Amino acid sequence: MSNPSLLILPGDGIGQEVMAEVRRVIEWFGAKRDMQFDVSEDLVGGAAYDKHGVPLHDDTMAKAQEVDAVLLGAVGGPAYDDLDFSVKPERGLLRLRKEMDLFANLRPAQCFDALADFSSLKKELVAGLDIMIVRELTSGVYFGEPRGIHMEDNMRVGVNTQRYTEVEIERGARAAFELAMKRDKKLCSMEKANVMESGILWRDVVTEVHADYPEVELSHMYADNGAMQLVRAPKQFDVIYTDNLFGDILSDCAAMLTGSLGMLPSASLGSPMENGRPKAMYEPVHGSAPDITGQGKANPIACILSFAMALRYSFDEGAEATRLEAAIEKVLADGVRTGDLLSDENSTGVSTSGMTDAILAALDESL
Ligand code: NAD
Ligand code: IPM
Ligand code: MN
Repeated sequence: MSNPSLLILPGDGIGQEVMAEVRRVIEWFGAKRDMQFDVSEDLVGGAAYDKHGVPLHDDTMAKAQEVDAVLLGAVGGPAYDDLDFSVKPERGLLRLRKEMDLFANLRPAQCFDALADFSSLKKELVAGLDIMIVRELTSGVYFGEPRGIHMEDNMRVGVNTQRYTEVEIERGARAAFELAMKRDKKLCSMEKANVMESGILWRDVVTEVHADYPEVELSHMYADNGAMQLVRAPKQFDVIYTDNLFGDILSDCAAMLTGSLGMLPSASLGSPMENGRPKAMYEPVHGSAPDITGQGKANPIACILSFAMALRYSFDEGAEATRLEAAIEKVLADGVRTGDLLSDENSTGVSTSGMTDAILAALDESL
């Protein structure tokens, strides 16, 4: 049998820096756990635009469709802010998600004990926090038509359309219920059924799917209240299922509960391929962080934890994923910190590669 294949797309800014660290982790698993991957690397975002004039070359798109999993760093940055909308770096990422049909975006927010003090919320509110946001990723206002900027009555009008079919809502809901079944069997669905028809349909469809998962306790919440509840009492949640835009915002919000955006991984999953594995892309929740690019300050943990999710969801290596997560937990418990995990702006902590050094040492100790 051939080795599982991985396409690495570091992208822009700190995406390149954190992905270099993930490659070291992949090499560790090759050398010490005899897990070999066929790794290839390509361009996405601004890096692809610089070379090809588009944020994702068709050949890269084709490769992404063929591999067992894609790992993506981050895209975007000020150098590309004034580009035409159609070739902005973010379009490359959105094309990958859409054409691979990665409809279920899993964004776990777990607070490591060692960081409970560091969260912007009180320690008792976040200690032991473990929630999973399932964000619908291929539809909604991100992709709905009509869209664009046009003239009307002598003024510019910007249009985006929130559009959901029941099939789109249902397949994401099934993914969320399946996850809830493996966790604490609690699912909270978030929309704005009070003001949006798509929200009314969302609530109806999720309620219908619930009939197949009677063991799961289902609740519905308006997304604005959900945002408030996430910072008031986050531990009330187990799995949250929400749409593309609300999920984008709520997951950044959940990120800060864990201490830093530099901690949050994600898995974007689609339908099973011929080999039974889901189409998949793994990426940190954070962006290219232009403010710290090139300074060795980026926290690589979100991206390394995204690789752990790949081990679990694409390669049936749950035990090795747990090994990697435990190594990260140990390093944090030992007090190793990148700058984003330190409150004193004058203390520098370890560098991006220093954090990986510590994680690799903890992995060695785990053997
Ligand atoms: P961002 O996530 O890049 O940064 C927000 C803040 O968090 C910054 O202060 C940054 O320094 C900090 N931060 C983020 N990741 C960090 C890490 N690993 N370690 C330490 N600190 C970290 O969001 P932004 O500034 O709003 O966006 C910058 C660019 O990234 C934009 O072009 C945006 O479109 C893009 N973006 C891309 C993705 C993605 O590729 N998935 C996600 C979000 C934003
Ligand atoms: C994310 C990002 C993306 C999104 C952007 C960069 C397209 O914010 O992955 O959270 O809005 O989905
Ligand atoms: Mn986002």
